[in-house]
Amino acid sequence: MRLPPTQAAVLEAASATEARTIERLAEELGEKPETVTGAAFALEEEGLLEVTERTVEGVSLTEEGEEYVERGLPEQRLYEAALELGADEEPVSMGEVIGRSGLEGNEVDIALSNYARKGYGEIDSGELSAVPGNEEDREADALALIEAGEPVTDEEVLDALARRELIDRRESTIRSATLTEAGVTALMEGVEESETVGQLTPEMLTGGEWRDVEFAAYNVEADAADVTGGKEHILRQTANRVKDVLVGMGFEEMEGPHADAEFWINDCLFMPQDHPARTHWDQFALSNPEEIDELPAELVERVKSAHLEGVGEDGDGYHSPWTEEVARGVDLRGHTTSLSMRYLSGEAVGELEPPQRYFSVEKVYRNDTLDPTHLLEFFQIEGWVMAEELSVRDLMGTFTEFYERFGITDLQFKPHYNPYTEPSFELFGHHPETGELIEIGNSGMFRPEVLEPLGVECDVMAWGLALERLLMLMYGFEDIRDVHGTLADLELLRETEVIR
Ligand code: PHE
Repeated sequence: MRLPPTQAAVLEAASATEARTIERLAEELGEKPETVTGAAFALEEEGLLEVTERTVEGVSLTEEGEEYVERGLPEQRLYEAALELGADEEPVSMGEVIGRSGLEGNEVDIALSNYARKGYGEIDSGELSAVPGNEEDREADALALIEAGEPVTDEEVLDALARRELIDRRESTIRSATLTEAGVTALMEGVEESETVGQLTPEMLTGGEWRDVEFAAYNVEADAADVTGGKEHILRQTANRVKDVLVGMGFEEMEGPHADAEFWINDCLFMPQDHPARTHWDQFALSNPEEIDELPAELVERVKSAHLEGVGEDGDGYHSPWTEEVARGVDLRGHTTSLSMRYLSGEAVGELEPPQRYFSVEKVYRNDTLDPTHLLEFFQIEGWVMAEELSVRDLMGTFTEFYERFGITDLQFKPHYNPYTEPSFELFGHHPETGELIEIGNSGMFRPEVLEPLGVECDVMAWGLALERLLMLMYGFEDIRDVHGTLADLELLRETEVIR
């Protein structure tokens, strides 16, 4: 039989009639106990050794304990000095005895506090007396026994030594190995050392050495170290996945400013200028710059007219004031539908001929109250499709296809109202942990009051979906703050499986 060197050595050092401790085998072989333990377990697995375990209370000397074994306990040394100075006859000044003993620093305190306790003598008004015949010290004897590896049974003494921190008492496991019958047979038939190799090298391959070596087996059950290296945040990872999916569905990506004119954020979307969502209760206004100077003049006129008079034969406007000044005000975008307006109007990449599909996965900002499902900023998955004939079925079909890619197959649609779409739908999905229906997006078909001023003559279906809500459905966390900001759940971020 061929065995790796340590295993072969351990097998040979083990006995069939006597259980030998790992410690002893290690000492005999000049190996570390851990190495011998590993080899013994490997041999046990092969059926060649039997390894038994028992727990014992182990006692070992602390560094201080070891020092006292060598030099005597401080109180013993004080006692000896006292005897030398005749303190058994007549009390001697403490200073003199201490000087004689050679005790230093806190050894003096230790000596004095144990001296009377152990009946070595009395300490009284700066003088020390000694009781003769006290050369024996149970604590010192016990320390010597422990040093020699002999058992100490006097619990009282052990407790005293532990209190003085001269010994460590702890449970330890003692493992012993005995040869099994198969082990004996293997030894009789002859055990040879094989060379085990942990890693295959290019040299072994080119030299042909790999043919003769024995490879060390992997212990796949061994505990591995936790590696918490950096990795892509699940939100970023999912944003990238969403982009890949949309590109795969034939969409192109939009980009544009985070801080933009209200014109693009609200006016183009037929949001009346006195709409409650346009107050600072909902949106963040910039003070620098406060306004955007340049807006496309013709488009401004058409948008203004839509607001004041409406579009089409039966069109009707809002009958409320509309000023370009308000439209030029700069806000952090509360949705990325501002980008859709820039693209649909031709402002971003020029006139677009149907069919077209565009998307963005970008940040938006809202003056919300922070709670488990709301942050002041989040990522919106914006998108729109422009084509000659579109219906709500196209919209629903697109969502079904999109969410299926993320394992979400139980979408629900609820009729909704947006100033800029008709009809409009909110999207809901079930939270995988709580079963609750949560809103994951908003959508609809842009109405003529939006499209006509933009110069778009066909149908456009559009949406804004919340990336963080999608993430909730995918990973099952319940608080959006688990993934963002100071309350982020690092455990969740570390342990969430990377999905590609
Ligand atoms: N802007 C809407 C929101 O933020 C989403 C949306 C975009 C709805 C386009 C309809 C059309 O909720």
